[in-house]
Amino acid sequence: MRSLPPLASNGVAVAIHSAGKPREHDSATLHVSGAARYVDDLKEPRELLHAAVGLTEIACGAVLSLDLDAVRSAPGVVAVLTLDDVPGHTDIGPVFPGDPLLAGERVKYHGQALFAVAAESLIQARRAVRLAKVEYAKEAPLIDPLRAKAEERFVRPPHHLRRGDAQAALESAPHVLEARQFIGGQEHFYLEGQASLALPSDDGGMLVHTSSQHPSEVQKLAAEVLAIPLAKVTVEVRRMGGGFGGKETQAAPFACLAALLAHKTGRAVKLRLPRADDMRLTGKRHPFHNRYRIGFDNEGRLLAAQLEVVGDCGHSPDLSDAIVDRAMFHADNAYFIPDVAISGYRSFTNIVSHTAFRGFGGPQGMMIIERAMDDIARAVGKDPLEVRKLNLYGGMGRELTPYHQKVEHNLLGELIARLEQSSEYAARRTGIRDFNAQSPVLKKGLALTPVKFGISFTAQHLNQAGALIHLYTDGSIQLNHGGTEMGQGLNTKVAQIVAEEFQVPLERVVITATRTDKVPNTSPTAASSGTDLNGMAARDAARTLKKRLVDFLAERDGVKPQEVRFEQGGVTVGAQHLGFTEVIQAAYFARIQLSATGFYRTPKIFYDREKGQGHPFFYFAYGAAVSEVEIDTLTGEYRVLRVDILHDVGRSVNPAIDIGQIEGGFVQGMGWLTTEELRWDDSGKLLTVGPATYKIPAVSDAPEDFRVALFERPNEEDSVYLSKAVGEPPFMLAISVWSALRDAIASLADYRLSPDLDTPATPERVLWACEAMRQQEHPLPSPLPQAGEGADRRDAPPGLQPAVALSVKRPSSYPAPNRPLSLQGEGWGEGEQPAEEFRP
Ligand code: MTE
Ligand code: MOS
Repeated sequence: MRSLPPLASNGVAVAIHSAGKPREHDSATLHVSGAARYVDDLKEPRELLHAAVGLTEIACGAVLSLDLDAVRSAPGVVAVLTLDDVPGHTDIGPVFPGDPLLAGERVKYHGQALFAVAAESLIQARRAVRLAKVEYAKEAPLIDPLRAKAEERFVRPPHHLRRGDAQAALESAPHVLEARQFIGGQEHFYLEGQASLALPSDDGGMLVHTSSQHPSEVQKLAAEVLAIPLAKVTVEVRRMGGGFGGKETQAAPFACLAALLAHKTGRAVKLRLPRADDMRLTGKRHPFHNRYRIGFDNEGRLLAAQLEVVGDCGHSPDLSDAIVDRAMFHADNAYFIPDVAISGYRSFTNIVSHTAFRGFGGPQGMMIIERAMDDIARAVGKDPLEVRKLNLYGGMGRELTPYHQKVEHNLLGELIARLEQSSEYAARRTGIRDFNAQSPVLKKGLALTPVKFGISFTAQHLNQAGALIHLYTDGSIQLNHGGTEMGQGLNTKVAQIVAEEFQVPLERVVITATRTDKVPNTSPTAASSGTDLNGMAARDAARTLKKRLVDFLAERDGVKPQEVRFEQGGVTVGAQHLGFTEVIQAAYFARIQLSATGFYRTPKIFYDREKGQGHPFFYFAYGAAVSEVEIDTLTGEYRVLRVDILHDVGRSVNPAIDIGQIEGGFVQGMGWLTTEELRWDDSGKLLTVGPATYKIPAVSDAPEDFRVALFERPNEEDSVYLSKAVGEPPFMLAISVWSALRDAIASLADYRLSPDLDTPATPERVLWACEAMRQQEHPLPSPLPQAGEGADRRDAPPGLQPAVALSVKRPSSYPAPNRPLSLQGEGWGEGEQPAEEFRP
């Protein structure tokens, strides 16, 4: 159809009108002026009730008695809800069962929802829930995921990926190293907490406004708990104040509770959690215990690897099957491993059920191989960047991932070369070595780490999207699609795509709230695929409408369809140019349908999980970052001095938004790896329940010198305008900060030893690592911790320093980490049979 923008040879539209421009986020002004409305800002309906949730005070055990008399008679209380009051389903597990809406007789984690209250005012509701009298039969909670693994207590069975014979290849490898790595979890800390407003209708239905990434799932679960048809429930999401994965499944319980209370009282009910409850009640990024055993040659080239990732899933499956799978799919990151075995375990613990968080397990998986790269470099005496480059996918026979998908169109060789140049890596490396040689206390570190992130949901059916476009007779265009806006700029990008299709100014396209009655059966906005999926669906709807208009005009004016072109904000028909509104009005009078749906499903993807083989990703997004840090080796404090990023977003739909995603993702990743520490006490109670104890990065923590560039290269796969997803991949660029910290610490041993540095790499952990390094270098009898305790040198190769065989006793004044490493002497997963599923 000629009405499309002219196509370049590669199929790219060259007459970019709207897509491809750095347009501002559609709500930017509203965001910064405080005028953007979130669920709690909606005009409150008459007779609104406010809800609050009563939480359990133990992590594991039975509820012997639940006395809610005082709650019921508290001032303002209108309704109290327990599990017995739920008319329909009581388990709202999103994929597998295991998530009771409210605890019944069994308590599975500290802070689990036990009952809910609706009262005339918010303060009355929150006061009332404290009046419950609960008797428990307490049991010892299981909070160590490694113990859970040893006892085979899993929320889902283990899974294994294999290519070649890792065991045999390790036995014949010239050098073998082994290490383990703890990777901490992360609180989402969305600025807007979980919030829902339920409005009952007179036919027994329900309208729910909620802050959720997955309106269709909220609709389904609300209908199921209410025991009414899905068609009677409508869910609306205008925007979220951040989701980051934390509202993919875990907004649903609160929407369901609000709906149940609304149903019970016949009044509108709003449930907005206080921050501390939000932090107790909702799952986080999974903490992981990973380990590797790797074999390599004298050059540092990987020959074989056994990799193990153990996710701390908490009490229920939630999305953990897919999250640990994604950790396994990214345990190779950018590197080819000739013989490889990857095992993934999903440990049960009496902790809140951990959930999606930007990267969805991918970041935790990548950490183990990035650690290996640094360790190999120190073992063979090379710059870590040399070892990374040596091991990249590419070249003859070096393209197959452990899940048997070929890495095609790998950009990393070129991307890294460019970043190495532009960041002046070599000169700065020399400068840093010189600086460190002269500076006894302050030490600098430098690291370049790459990212290769697979784009698509690994559950095939989720890779679909719908859209609905209305053209009104004043020429305005109303755009509806199934994606949700959480700050990432999805609505702006999809609107740009529609404006591009019609070749009209962006302002003509009106963005709407996401509603399940406009576009049904949608997937969550997740896996970074919001624009890929919904952009394509909206483009499809726009093209359907365009075709109708073209056919109408061609017939009316007796021209060929090729002579009708959408351009310059209007439509050219033969020799004359018509205004857009004029065309729409003419079409209306000619009785042309001016509303169309669009649909998209991602091609090419499949995965046979039984075999652990397939093509789970449509394409990969790439990037790399160079981070420079400076540490104080006497206090462990550090600063990030400079960060250079080169990131692949294909042919950007909106460079301004993409750069914002890269910067934001990087800083959020940095927080995860450095300052954000979750702590549970021995009873399973979360101690870090607010910003006073849980430290997200502040403005002052952003790198002093922050240089972000886009690697402009159209996607080789046929994605929307050949762009690439950007939401999650940049998060993992922050691994360069952690690697640079280890580099600075390694300078204390002249880069011959490789320090252990669990995450978050808080100043305390950096200090322990410095002490361990000094002890190894100059073993002195001292009151300071002794090195070598717990060291595992089984496989330290002859002639090489034990790169990783280090550990140190912590000063007794500092609390032990939550999940002590206890893998000593344990076997590797190869050949293990999937354990029988553990049902808590
Ligand atoms: N950016 C902002 N500002 N707020 C968010 O909540 N979530 C991230 C990412 N970027 C998020 C964000 C996550 S976890 C995902 S999966 C993607 O955005 C989802 O949106 P997309 O698919 O439209 O990129
Ligand atoms: Mo993002 S973790 O896929 O919501």
